[in-house]
Order: sequence, then structure tokens, then C-alpha cells
Amino acid sequence: MGKKIQIAIDGPAGAGKSTIAKIVAESLGFTYIDTGAMYRAVTYKAMKENIGLSDEKSLEKMLLNTSIILKPSENGQLVFVDGEDVSQLIRSNEVTANVSEVAAHPIIREILVAKQQELAAIGGIVMDGRDIGTHVLRDAELKIYMSASVEERAKRRFIDNEKRGIPSTIESLKEEIAKRDKLDSEREASPLIQAEDAIYLDTTHLSIEEAANEILNLAKEIMGSSDF
Ligand code: CDP
Ligand code: CDP
Repeated sequence: MGKKIQIAIDGPAGAGKSTIAKIVAESLGFTYIDTGAMYRAVTYKAMKENIGLSDEKSLEKMLLNTSIILKPSENGQLVFVDGEDVSQLIRSNEVTANVSEVAAHPIIREILVAKQQELAAIGGIVMDGRDIGTHVLRDAELKIYMSASVEERAKRRFIDNEKRGIPSTIESLKEEIAKRDKLDSEREASPLIQAEDAIYLDTTHLSIEEAANEILNLAKEIMGSSDF
């Protein structure tokens, strides 16, 4: 097998990015990085410290004094904020409802993108988010834009929430997902769009294994090619 490559996976909420990215990373012996967890971590701390989510300056000051550490674990990735394991807390409805507002601030993105690029420098990376192929890892050898119908994505999230004991309904999730997709796609700073050189993967009717295999086959083709 050839060189260790960078794989960028972008797309809207509930498309299957993190689940499938984890499997792809594990199969290739690569590191998985969930960039959404970083935006969630900043949002979690800002809410805990009662910082106005529209107050970019105060958010910047807070972030520059915050340690956010991602640690690979059996279940994907653990997230620590100032030493506290917040892996579950950052998935709450409250954080989910506010994260897109925080993620829209250019300075917050600048700080987190620099950290993401530093983490990716080791090579052999699968990174998922909204702007990975268009911005964070512009030179990634493989870029995937993953999507699924909003109905399917809401259903998946409903099942996730039931497992985690987070109350929700499919209708409220459909609304929340559509709202977040709109904010993420329409913001000025690195909006969610498909990179020109990304491959579109619709997972609406694909099982997790089928979607992971599609990406693994593409990755193996690239890694085995004579370009490396
Ligand atoms: O897992 P889910 O799709 O719900 O979201 P996530 O990947 O945890 O990302 C949460 C939010 O962070 C997104 O809705 C975006 O507002 C923001 N985000 C971003 O702006 N850029 C990224 N690279 C990753 C996430
Ligand atoms: O990271 P993202 O928000 O794109 O989605 P996810 O958190 O990986 O996936 C949301 C849920 O959909 C998870 O519980 C996955 O197991 C499930 N899923 C699925 O049922 N079928 C797929 N083809 C992909 C994901």
C-alpha cells in the first residue's frame, strides 16, 4: 500500500460522516478527527461561562485561554475541555441548537482551523466537518461530500437520541437539522458547500458498511496508484 493520505469528509448533519469516517480510519490505520466536536466544545464552554454567543471578541478571548484536546478512543474520539471530559455534554440539545451561531464567527474558525491543520500534518488522516475539503485540507487526496434526505437524517438522529436518553421528536429534529444546514450553508466564512473536486455520496439508501466500503475502495485506489 502507498503513501498515507488525507481524506476529507464534509456534508450536512446526520449524513453519516462521523460514523463512516471512524470505520474508514480504523480500517486504514489512520487517525480520525471530528472537527464538529471542536466547535461544540467552544459552544459548551461559552454557554457554561455565560458568554454572549454573538460576542466574537469575548469568545475569542475565552478560546485563547481554553485547552481543547481530542483523544482517540475505542468509540471514536473523546473531547476534553480544560481537562474535563465533555464528550457527552457537547452533544446536548442546547449545544446543538447554538453551535452554528458560534461556528459562524471568522476568528473562531481561524483559531480552530489552525489547530485542525496542525493535527492533520501527521498524515494518514480522516477528518470530517463542513469546510474540510474546501478550506482546512484543500490538498486532501480524497474528498467526499456526503448527504442524505432530511427525513432520513432526522430519523437517524432520533434513534441516536433515544439511545443517549436525549428527548426529541422526528419533527423537531427535522426542523433543527434544516435550520442548522441553512445557517452552515449561508454563512460568510467557509460555508458548507461541496468542493469542486469532491465526490458526492448519497447515503439515504446505503447501509453504514456500504458507504464505508465506497470510500475505502476509493482510498485504496488512490493509495495504490503509481502517483505515490
Ligand atoms: O454531528 P453533527 O452533524 O450534528 O454536527 P457536527 O459535525 O458535530 O458539527 C456541529 C456544528 O459545528 C455544525 O452544524 C457547524 O455549525 C459547525 N462545524 C463547522 O462549522 N465546521 C466544521 N468543520 C465542523 C462543524
Ligand atoms: O456525522 P454526521 O452528523 O454526518 O452523522 P452520524 O452522526 O455519523 O450519523 C447519524 C446516525 O446515522 C448514526 O447513528 C449512524 O449510525 C446512522 N447512519 C445510518 O444509519 N446509516 C448510514 N448509512 C449512515 C449513518
